Amino acid sequence: MPVTALVSAKSSGVTTTALALTLASKRPSLLAECDPAGGTIRAGFLQGEATAGFGLYHLATAERTGPDALAHAFASHLWSMDQAGHRKLLPGLTDPGQAAALTRTWPALSDVLHVLADDAGYDVFIDAGRLALESGHLHPTLTPAPLLHQADLVLLVVRGTEQSLTLARHLIDPLRTELTERGNGPEALGLLLIEDGPYRAHQVADALKVPVLAALPADPATADYFTTGGRPPRGYGRSPLLRHARTATEQFEAAVSRREIQRQYPPRAANPQLAGVLQRLTERSGPRG
Ligand SMILES: Nc1ncnc2c1ncn2[C@@H]1O[C@H](COP(=O)(O)OP(=O)(O)O)[C@@H](O)[C@H]1O
Ligand SMILES: [Mg+2]
Repeated sequence: MPVTALVSAKSSGVTTTALALTLASKRPSLLAECDPAGGTIRAGFLQGEATAGFGLYHLATAERTGPDALAHAFASHLWSMDQAGHRKLLPGLTDPGQAAALTRTWPALSDVLHVLADDAGYDVFIDAGRLALESGHLHPTLTPAPLLHQADLVLLVVRGTEQSLTLARHLIDPLRTELTERGNGPEALGLLLIEDGPYRAHQVADALKVPVLAALPADPATADYFTTGGRPPRGYGRSPLLRHARTATEQFEAAVSRREIQRQYPPRAANPQLAGVLQRLTERSGPRG
């Protein structure tokens, strides 16, 4: 299953979206709250239920004691968001001042997340917070850069508003270059649109020259539940946000497997007929609707 990292140009729904995707996935799922500016789920959605004994910061401490220590400590720092334990959360930092301590933890954490996705079939989502650049590259302490480099998908969360698109526009080129030079390739980059504002998915894709891999509806009641916790709103299980989030997880999986097929069997210029067959085959397994 894919490891999908979510980022924003400026607060635009990354944490809410990451929670919606994690809780909606058909597969076992894990959300790693890796926003260096600090996590909001513990005090928000969980209403303080998860004590400070759980979470990301402890993995930084563990990692310093030895090469395999993080992998061993990992499971004991996850919080179950459901009874059955299929929806796991790695709660984020309680203090943004701790972010610098994580710089050398990200690569080992990334390895563990990929093992969980590849070998245990988990849908893994990373809340990577707001993007920060330094000299045209991902900032080494204000972003979890290694997680973004290694993610199967890096999705910039945007809203369909002029303000959101204006801010996102400046990040596309540096992000694409970063993924080309240091990451999983430029095809890893996509947009996730929150349908708030006048711009539709095709307009957003045209404006930013990046495919929109999923669109989620504006659903204030469900989003508010993910932000502040408490009692789920009426009809939560069938809410527009949760239903579309479920479809989105399938679209991500299809996008990643399509890319894998294309990597294994690159279309051959010498045989355009074969390339056409491949394209039709991969389109079938692509996103619906
Ligand atoms: N799909 C949505 N529909 C309506 N409101 C949303 C949606 N996604 C997020 N929000 C709201 O936007 C605000 C910011 O969301 P949040 O997830 O905290 O953003 P970020 O993590 O990017 O800072 C919150 O009040 C949240 O409830
Ligand atoms: Mg957030």
